[in-house]
Amino acid sequence: MAGILGPRAIFWAFLVLATGVIYNTYIHNFIFITVGIGREIQPIEDFPWTCTRVRHPLLEGCEDLWLDDQDRKLYAACNSLESRKGWSPGGNLYNISTRSRTDHIAVIDVDQPGSDGLYGLRQLKIGGYQDDLDLHGFDVRKIEGRLRFWLINHRPPVDHVTGEFLDALVVGANSTVEIFDLDETSDTLEHVKTVASEAIFTPNGVAVEEDGLGFVITNDHNTKTGTMRVLEMLSGGGSLAYCRSDTGKCHIAADKGFSMPNGIAHDKNGYYYVANSASGLITVHKLVNNKLIHVESINTGYPMDNLWLDADGNLIAAAFPDSIAFVKSIMDPYNVVPPATVLMFNDIAKQLKTYGKNVKVSKLVEDRDAKSLPSSTVAVHDVKGHKLFLAGRTLTPLGCDRCKGHGHSLSVSTGLGDS
Ligand SMILES: *[C@@H]1O[C@H](CO)[C@@H](O)[C@H](O)[C@H]1NC(C)=O
Ligand SMILES: *[C@@H]1O[C@H](CO)[C@@H](O)[C@H](O)[C@H]1NC(C)=O
Repeated sequence: MAGILGPRAIFWAFLVLATGVIYNTYIHNFIFITVGIGREIQPIEDFPWTCTRVRHPLLEGCEDLWLDDQDRKLYAACNSLESRKGWSPGGNLYNISTRSRTDHIAVIDVDQPGSDGLYGLRQLKIGGYQDDLDLHGFDVRKIEGRLRFWLINHRPPVDHVTGEFLDALVVGANSTVEIFDLDETSDTLEHVKTVASEAIFTPNGVAVEEDGLGFVITNDHNTKTGTMRVLEMLSGGGSLAYCRSDTGKCHIAADKGFSMPNGIAHDKNGYYYVANSASGLITVHKLVNNKLIHVESINTGYPMDNLWLDADGNLIAAAFPDSIAFVKSIMDPYNVVPPATVLMFNDIAKQLKTYGKNVKVSKLVEDRDAKSLPSSTVAVHDVKGHKLFLAGRTLTPLGCDRCKGHGHSLSVSTGLGDS
């Protein structure tokens, strides 16, 4: 199975199948959140978006996206469709020798489709960093005219004496956060530093504070390897680590009440929003005395992946409305594309203040019949350009075109991406 299936696929397959095994204790979550019984899934015609695919090998296997809405560029952390079939610690795959070593950051100019329709697609070069990257979530801040990138990197573990690889099936990945700078005029990411810490354990998403110093990562599990990982999808697990870019120091800042924390976003009010994939909750946290205290839990009822906070303060979540179809697509990725949902919480900070946990959620777009959208792991809303960018795990890269006067959406495939 692991030979054909991507790690993300396996991640979700485990989520669904493992949940089935001991569902008695967790029957409600299983039926109503994970599987989504009784959930109404709408056709894409109900929404004012029209989408087209952007096909290119550089836009395959893109796990996460980041939009520079001032400079009108979209950055994507991608690998290739063949990638991560063996090495994907987040998806319980630990065969180091299958690493494709093709992970890269791709860039497009969102307002300039060009005559080839590829939006000036290119790949950033890497400077000052010798190893291969094994990418997952990432975040970016503009600092003194430069863009600074924080990239989660799932390094294979190495014996520091012999330099040989260790058995990753036993010790797991040596996951780190790599900080890179990108000058305005350059197309090379220059390595700034590696942040390695025991608190960066099973990182999935990362969110950086306004000053570009503090950042938080989600650890999606409590264990790096082993069967307990599967049980955590039911029993809960995971944590948040708070790190400082200047000192490179991290500590666990919250470790209670999580259920596979995945995507994370940070707002100007100091709130962190965390998507818990297994419980369908978005938990809200605030940093107080170096702890990320729990402020609120918002129940969405959907398994979710990455989060995006747009320029108007709306929180956007990529969600999976139909896990059964999702598992089918894992078994037959070339023929089955599962439905996708993009959820939106209007002005999340204001709503939280007004309504507490009862914030209103709406669907930005949904694709019941999987006509246009990939099963998205990330959705980015471009307020200025009235666009929506999606990256998902469908095998054909997908981009979306001008929408009935309302907007435009472009999506790229993440192929067999990571979880
Ligand atoms: C790991 O991958 C290599 C290369 O694809 C393959 O030959 C080997 O059998 C794999 N090992 C395991 C334990 O699956
Ligand atoms: C993990 O990566 C860090 C940063 O490169 C390195 O110092 C450390 O030796 C690595 N540990 C293992 C077990 O690979």
